[in-house]
Amino acid sequence: MTSSKVTAGDIRAMKTHGEKVPSLTAYDYPMTKLLDEAGVPLILVGDSVGMLVLGYPDTTHVTMAEMEHHVRAAARAKPRALLAADLPYRSYDTAEAALENARRLIAAGAEAVKAEGGRAILEQVRAIVNAGIPFIGHIGMLPQHVLEEGRYRIKGRNDAERAALMADAKALEQAGAFAIVLELVTPPVAKEVSEFISIPTIGIGSGPDCDGQILVTHDLIGTFPWFTPKFVKPRLNAAEQIRAAVGAWKLAVQSEQPKDGQTCS
Ligand code: KIV
Repeated sequence: MTSSKVTAGDIRAMKTHGEKVPSLTAYDYPMTKLLDEAGVPLILVGDSVGMLVLGYPDTTHVTMAEMEHHVRAAARAKPRALLAADLPYRSYDTAEAALENARRLIAAGAEAVKAEGGRAILEQVRAIVNAGIPFIGHIGMLPQHVLEEGRYRIKGRNDAERAALMADAKALEQAGAFAIVLELVTPPVAKEVSEFISIPTIGIGSGPDCDGQILVTHDLIGTFPWFTPKFVKPRLNAAEQIRAAVGAWKLAVQSEQPKDGQTCS
């Protein structure tokens, strides 16, 4: 990796150079700045913002206006990292809508967009790529489909799912995606997909053999302690540290005695 601004081409080339792609989510200015200072090359303003920040039960509630708001905040950090953003639920039902909404995210400050699906959204992917907007695919478990699926389910456990993942990955590569997120794919199938295509696969809960890994930063640092996916080993328990710091400050305030003659006003 160079020390200059990271481009989609740089992320793609990391696979050729045998470099893994560490990626994390950020939804605001300070976290984008911190991740960038730590040298993460790809930062995603994910629609996981819905659960992690906005208090929704899943990503299907996130709107374009909410995504634009968070992309603008993250983009103000002017990261060296490539800043990608999710097209939210139902914002890419047609090629026209996909392109219009991808352009809105780019106008808000994103430098690449991601959408969920493989062969089912190829027209949308082509419209985005043909307009010169870098595109990241997302296959495996698709969180925007959780209501139809009923739960978050591991993909690639049978031959039909394995074949579908391989075909989706190849189709996205051929349509011009520069990377593909593999979410909750069985590790052997994630490895096979990674070896089958020339663009980087970025795994989440899909084992160690993807070309990169992405995590929700809140899971990594423990700022959303009420739910942590099984495949994440948090590196920090920030929620506990926040509770302890706030508790100590509260006690200090409660035990403060006014000095003689001193008032608050
Ligand atoms: O929304 C999100 O955060 C994602 C992931 C791949 C982490 O899509």
